[in-house]
Amino acid sequence: MTFQYSRSFAHQLDEQDTLKEFRQWFHFPTNAVGEDQLYFCGNSLGLQPRTAKQALDAELEDWAKHGVEGHFHGKNPWFHYHKFLTQHSAEIVGAREHEVVVMNQLTVNLHLLMVSFYRPTASRYKIIMEAGAFPSDMYAIESQVKFHGFEYDKAVIELKPRDGEHTLRNADILDAIEQHKDELALVFFSGVQYYTGQLFNIKQITEKAHSVGAIAGFDLAHAAGMLTYNCTIGM
Ligand SMILES: Cc1ncc(COP(=O)(O)O)c(C=O)c1O
Repeated sequence: MTFQYSRSFAHQLDEQDTLKEFRQWFHFPTNAVGEDQLYFCGNSLGLQPRTAKQALDAELEDWAKHGVEGHFHGKNPWFHYHKFLTQHSAEIVGAREHEVVVMNQLTVNLHLLMVSFYRPTASRYKIIMEAGAFPSDMYAIESQVKFHGFEYDKAVIELKPRDGEHTLRNADILDAIEQHKDELALVFFSGVQYYTGQLFNIKQITEKAHSVGAIAGFDLAHAAGMLTYNCTIGM
């Protein structure tokens, strides 16, 4: 099929889209003349699923009906809530069920992971990450580095694309790891860069980090569910 720059061609592609049924599952904000907006902000906040209100109302009803006993009674007893999403989360990230748990928010989890995995010493304390990482990730890294008594500029190496380029070259990432190998504690990247859409080579970055004695960690907010990996991901 030859690409055509026309509305009818776009409609034709929509018709052939095997995922088109999913569209009706979401609320679309409308524009000034009442039409559904063309929504391209799923990388920030996605559209509200039509079932979201019903799901929240069910929990509120159980809270009203059972009070604290809602932990053990009602539709989804809250005491076990972390188990309800285990199977699907494991499938989405390609992990085993005992390797995943749904809890907190991402930044809290990042801090918890770094408490376990970022254990800097006087000689091995540096972190390599992408310049322009998601802001809350940068703040979390900064807090951890300062918490351990290091200065951000000395401890954190932010990798930028080469002049005139918009994405990082994988070889440059691997070279930077090699260059700082004796002082490196952690290599921290996203899976998919939230702004440029760059997919990082998680497998090679992880292997290179491990080969120099560093830990590799990835923020998969924009990758989980969007891509299929054939390698184990995570810290
Ligand atoms: C790439 C990325 N990292 C981190 C976060 C922060 O997530 P949270 O607000 O759950 O801490 C977000 C939120 O959108 C994100 O997109």
